[in-house]
Amino acid sequence: MKIKIADLEFEPLISEKVIVERTKAIGQQLNADYQNSIPVFVGVLNGSFLFIADLIKEIDRPCEIAFTKLASYYGGTTSKLKIRDDIDLIMDIKDRDVVIIEDIVDTGNTLHYLIDKLKKRNPASIAVCSLLLKPEALLSPIEELKYVGFEIENEFVVGYGLDYQEMGRNLRDIYKKI
Ligand code: XMP
Ligand code: MG
Repeated sequence: MKIKIADLEFEPLISEKVIVERTKAIGQQLNADYQNSIPVFVGVLNGSFLFIADLIKEIDRPCEIAFTKLASYYGGTTSKLKIRDDIDLIMDIKDRDVVIIEDIVDTGNTLHYLIDKLKKRNPASIAVCSLLLKPEALLSPIEELKYVGFEIENEFVVGYGLDYQEMGRNLRDIYKKI
């Protein structure tokens, strides 16, 4: 079913059911990969808030959770080159295994910025888990990107945490702009 948010129309792309199944599978992969560690999951606000909430419930071993807030779209439908660093990660990550949880990787600028910043704090390791990836939009490879929910076309999406003009984050499914 088509939906309208502000001036744009969207159609369904990935259903809640498919998101749930994929999140479970990624959770199992993380459980296996971090069985000898207490990882710190770092959610990138705002977009990843639903994904990290659902993903962390699939983790069946000790782990910690922390947040940072970055923005690169602020309002529009294209990625900005300049990253706005709104809330820093306050947790001490020295010698910790860090897993950054993102909603979507587009140009990759946001992640490069965050990875460079966190590396300076000497974590034991950094990996990235993103629900979505737009491979065609990625400007340079991200070595740390180990877990990807879905690869999508280079199209603007909303729902399940992702917004258009701050709306649509509450939708259970993911929609693409028509
Ligand atoms: P970059 O280009 O830095 O972008 O990889 C990553 C951030 O931009 C936002 N983003 C989107 N938000 N629909 C959205 O609602 C999209 O299609 C989209 N593409 C990128 C998002 O915040 C992500 O963290
Ligand atoms: Mg984001």
